[in-house]
Amino acid sequence: MQPSDVLVGLDIGTTKVSAVIGEYDENDQLQIIGVGTAPSTGLRRGVVVNIEATLKSVDAAVEAAEQMAGREVQNVVTGIAGGHIEGLNSRGVVAVTGRGREITRTDVDRVIDAAKAVVIPMDREVIHVIPQEYIVDEQGGIKNPLDMIGVRLEAEVHIITGSVTSAQNLVKCVNRAGFKVESIVLESLASSRAVLTREEQELGVLLIDLGGGTTDMLVHIDGAPYYTSVLPVGGAQVTNDLSIMLKTPMEAAERIKREAGCCYAPMVEEGEPVIIPGVGGRPPLQAKRSDIANIIQPRMAEILTMVRDKVQKKGYLKRLFGGVVLTGGGALMPGAVELAQEVFHTAARVGMPGNYHGVADIYRSPEYSTAVGLALFAEEAMGHETREPSVKPKSGGMLTGLRGWLRNFFE
Ligand SMILES: Nc1ncnc2c1ncn2[C@@H]1O[C@H](COP(=O)(O)OP(=O)(O)OP(=O)(O)O)[C@@H](O)[C@H]1O
Ligand SMILES: [Mg+2]
Repeated sequence: MQPSDVLVGLDIGTTKVSAVIGEYDENDQLQIIGVGTAPSTGLRRGVVVNIEATLKSVDAAVEAAEQMAGREVQNVVTGIAGGHIEGLNSRGVVAVTGRGREITRTDVDRVIDAAKAVVIPMDREVIHVIPQEYIVDEQGGIKNPLDMIGVRLEAEVHIITGSVTSAQNLVKCVNRAGFKVESIVLESLASSRAVLTREEQELGVLLIDLGGGTTDMLVHIDGAPYYTSVLPVGGAQVTNDLSIMLKTPMEAAERIKREAGCCYAPMVEEGEPVIIPGVGGRPPLQAKRSDIANIIQPRMAEILTMVRDKVQKKGYLKRLFGGVVLTGGGALMPGAVELAQEVFHTAARVGMPGNYHGVADIYRSPEYSTAVGLALFAEEAMGHETREPSVKPKSGGMLTGLRGWLRNFFE
C-alpha cells in the first residue's frame, strides 16, 4: 500500500470506532475512498477508560479503512467529547497600529490572543478558539476585518476547553496503534461541518449528536458556534431501560431497539408483535411494539428535554430559525425527528454526511457524521488552505491553541 497525505478522520466513540479516509480528486471534489468501523469497548461516556481495548478498536477500524482505500494511514485527526467539555464566549480588544490604520493579519492574531486570555484552570486546555464576529470602531457583524481601516479592533470568540488528561489518553491510544494525531477536534464541531448547511448555521441551528455514551449539543448563530455542551447520557441508557423492563440481556435489548424501536408512540400501529428472546431457560416472550415505544420514548424525551433546558437557560432557544438537526446513531431511531419537533416546537431533520463521491455509500449515515467531519478538518490540520471561507489566524484557524500541548508520545 502506498503512504500518502490522505485526509483521515478517526472517531473514537463509546459504541464504535470509525475511520474515514478522504482525498481530493483532480477536480477538487472530496472523495471518500475508505471507511472502516469496529466495536468500541474501552470508553465510558465518551472518555477513554481502557487504553488496551481502545487501541485494538482503533487498529481494527483503521485497518479496515486502509484495506478499502488501498492506502496506508499515518496521520489522523481525532475527535474529543465527554462531560468535561466546556464552551464559553469571550471578547478581546486591541488598537490598530499599522500604517494607515489598515487592519493586518497580525492585528487579527493579536485580537484573537487577547480574546483567548481568560483564566483557564490548570487541568483544562483550550481545544478551539473560533471567531464569531469582529467589531471595527463600534461597527459589528464583520466576518473578515482584513484591510479595513479602523482604530479599535474587537473580536468575539467561542472558546472550547477540555480535560488535559482525557485528551492525552486519546492521543496515547492512537499513538500505540501506530498513528500520529495531527489534531484533536470537538466531535460536535466535526459533525456540524459534515451535516449542517451554511444557511442553517447563519439562521441559527442546534446540532444534537445522539451517541451511545454522550449527547453532544452545539448552537450555531450567524455562522459561528455560540454554545457547546456534552451530556454524559446517550443511547446506552435507552438500551439499559429496555433490558430492565423486558428482563432481557443488554445485547438482546440493543437488537430489539435497533430492529423494532420507535421513540414516538403515535407512529406505531396497535398490536404489532415483537419477540423477546428467552433467557436462562425461559421461553421467548411476545411483546407489542407499542409497549417498546412506551419504554423508549420517555428516556429519549428526557434526553432531548435536558438539551432544550440547557439551550433555553442560555437564551438561544428562540434564535433557532434554522431548527434542530439530529445526528449520531440515535438519529436512526424512527420517531426521533417527530419527538424533537414536539420537544423543541421547531422544525427538525436528520443530518447525515453529504454526497462525496468515492466508495459505496456506507458513510451516508448519521453514525458517520463525526468521522466524515474529522476528515474534513484534516485538510486544515495538515496545513492546507481550507475550502471553508473562514477568517483564520496564522496559527491554524479553529485548531489554534492546541499545538502547544498536543504531544504525540511514541513508545
Ligand atoms: N437503527 C437504530 N435505531 C436506534 N438506535 C440506534 C440505531 N443504530 C444505532 N443506534 C444507537 O446509536 C448509538 C450509537 O451511536 P453512535 O454510533 O453515534 O455512538 P458513538 O459515536 O459510538 O458514541 P459517543 O458519540 O456517545 O461516544 C447506540 O446507543 C445505538 O444503540
Ligand atoms: Mg459519536
